[in-house]
Amino acid sequence: NSPLRIALAGLGTVGAGVVKLLDENRDLIARRSGRPIEIVAVSARDRSRDRGVDLGRFEWVDDTSSLAERDDVDVVVELIGGSDGPAVALVREAISRGKGVVTANKAMIAHHGLELAAAAEKAGTPLKYEAAVAGGIPIIKAIREGAAANRIDRVYGILNGTCNYILTEMEEKGAAFADVLGEAQRLGYAEADPTFDIDGIDAAHKLAILASLAFGSEIDFASVRTTGIRAVAATDIAHAAELGFRVRLVGVAEVVGDRIHQRVHPCLVPLANPLAKVTGSLNAVVAEGNFVGRLFFEGRGAGEGPTASAVVADLIDIARGEAGPAFAMPSHHLEPIGAGEAGDW
Ligand code: HSE
Repeated sequence: NSPLRIALAGLGTVGAGVVKLLDENRDLIARRSGRPIEIVAVSARDRSRDRGVDLGRFEWVDDTSSLAERDDVDVVVELIGGSDGPAVALVREAISRGKGVVTANKAMIAHHGLELAAAAEKAGTPLKYEAAVAGGIPIIKAIREGAAANRIDRVYGILNGTCNYILTEMEEKGAAFADVLGEAQRLGYAEADPTFDIDGIDAAHKLAILASLAFGSEIDFASVRTTGIRAVAATDIAHAAELGFRVRLVGVAEVVGDRIHQRVHPCLVPLANPLAKVTGSLNAVVAEGNFVGRLFFEGRGAGEGPTASAVVADLIDIARGEAGPAFAMPSHHLEPIGAGEAGDW
C-alpha cells in the first residue's frame, strides 16, 4: 500500500520523539495502519542541535510554510507551537490545500480550534490534536468516541505535567520551586515559555478544549478563571500534608443549567482522592457521563515519549482513513459564569 507521507514542522522534544517512535515501531505501525508512515521533509529553527536521532536522511527546508505546498506531502505535523504566527499560518495553508494536519498545539486549538475544524471539514481533510491535551492519555479519542453516546456535564483533572512535577518534588524532596522548574525544563516537560505552565494558562488551554468536546459547546478559553502555582510555598504543601491533603493544580469544567463554569487553580485534594495519587509528570482526567458513569484516565502528560505516542496515534488514524471530524460543531451555546458571579463555587 502507498505510504502516508508526512512533513514535520518543528523538531523540539516532541518532534524528535515522533522520529524515534516512527523508527523504532516502524513495522508494527505499518501493520496497524495498513501502510507505512514516512517522513519526507522536516523543518526546524536549529539544524545543528543533536536530537539523539539521525535527521540527515530527511529533506530539510528553511521555509516552514513551504511544507504545506508540497505535492509529496499528505499530512503536515505541526509541532512549532504558539497560538498565532507561523504555526497557524502553516495549518491554515495545509488545510486549504487539502492536506491532513496533526498538531500538539493546545494554544492554537484553544484559540482557533473551531475555525480550523470548520475549514478542515469544508476541505474534507482531517485535523487531529490528541497530543494537545494531557500528553499520552488518549482523552480526545475517549471523549469523542468512547463516551460519544453520553451527555457529559463535568470534566476535570490534572492537566499540566510541569506543575504536577513541581508540586510533587516540592512535597517529596522539599525542593525549591525554582530548582524544580529548571529540572522540569531539562526533562522536556515545560513549555518554551514556562510561565504558561506555572500560571495555569497551559492547563486552561487544555480545559477549554476538553469542555468544548465534552459539552458540544464553543471553545471558550477567555472565560476560564485561571490561577497558577506561583504562590504555592513549600510550607503550604507541608501544612496541607499534615492535614491529610495534597496540593494539585486542578482544572474543572462544568455545565450548570445553560451556563458553563471553567476554572483552573491549586486545590487541596484529600489523600484518599485518586487525584492525590497522581504524581510527577502524570496527568489525570475524569469525565462523568450520564450512562457510563465516572471515567478516570491517568498517564504521562508531558515529555517526548508520551506526546509522540499521541501524535503518531493520530497519524495512524489518518493512515487508516478513520480520522472523522475534529470537533462536533457547537450544538448549544453556554454562557460563561463570570468571575464576579462565583458564588458558591
Ligand atoms: N508543558 C506541558 C505540561 C506539556 O507540562 O503539561 C504537555 O502539554
